[in-house]
Amino acid sequence: MALVSVSILNGDLSHLAQVADTIADADADLLHYDVMDGNFVDNLSFGLPVLSSLKPHVRVPVDVHLMIREPLRYAERFVRAGADLLSFHIESDSDPAETVREIHRLGIHAGIAVSPETPAESVFPLLGILEPDDFILMMTVHPGLGGQQFMPEVLPKIRTLRRRMEAEQLPLHIEVDGGINEVTGAACREAGADYLVAGSFVLCTEDPAAAVRALKKPL
Ligand code: DX5
Ligand code: ZN
Repeated sequence: MALVSVSILNGDLSHLAQVADTIADADADLLHYDVMDGNFVDNLSFGLPVLSSLKPHVRVPVDVHLMIREPLRYAERFVRAGADLLSFHIESDSDPAETVREIHRLGIHAGIAVSPETPAESVFPLLGILEPDDFILMMTVHPGLGGQQFMPEVLPKIRTLRRRMEAEQLPLHIEVDGGINEVTGAACREAGADYLVAGSFVLCTEDPAAAVRALKKPL
């Protein structure tokens, strides 16, 4: 079973509460909130005040993806603003183990995000400190923009990571993010991913519910 997390980045940003309704009405599982600081990635998106304003309008858990230089410094503020799951990049400046522990202390699930050029093995030493239902977010595009082309070279990394989680019997999830549609989503699920982030595929279509159903279709 795959869960679908819908990225609002390519949604209608002038009507975010409506976008949140569309996501819940389409039967998606999570709302994916991409935070960019203009430093870790070149782009700037939205941050704390937008999240706290949007939160009361969201009927699914909020999956916050921090593409920022210092996630440890901001984790508590994002949880207060409404994050239900919080992922940060292993390539950021914060110590990853310390950041995971801080997210756990704040009482929510942690995710460690991995950019396409970072090997899957880089997260192996951290798998042991993750708690059941935490996740590794495998970027399937370069972080920074919505609407990019899926990178198939990430598929072997997903397989490697899933094999390692199975070998260690770790009840963790693998989330994929970037260029996910019906076809690329199925390829990622076959490789071992079980959380699919999709932005344009769900929100830039006439029928978001059909797009979510297509992503969840049994393999
Ligand atoms: C990219 C973001 C993704 C992106 C997904 O940096 O992390 O969440 O918005 O959008 P699509 O599905 O349009 O590639
Ligand atoms: Zn994202």
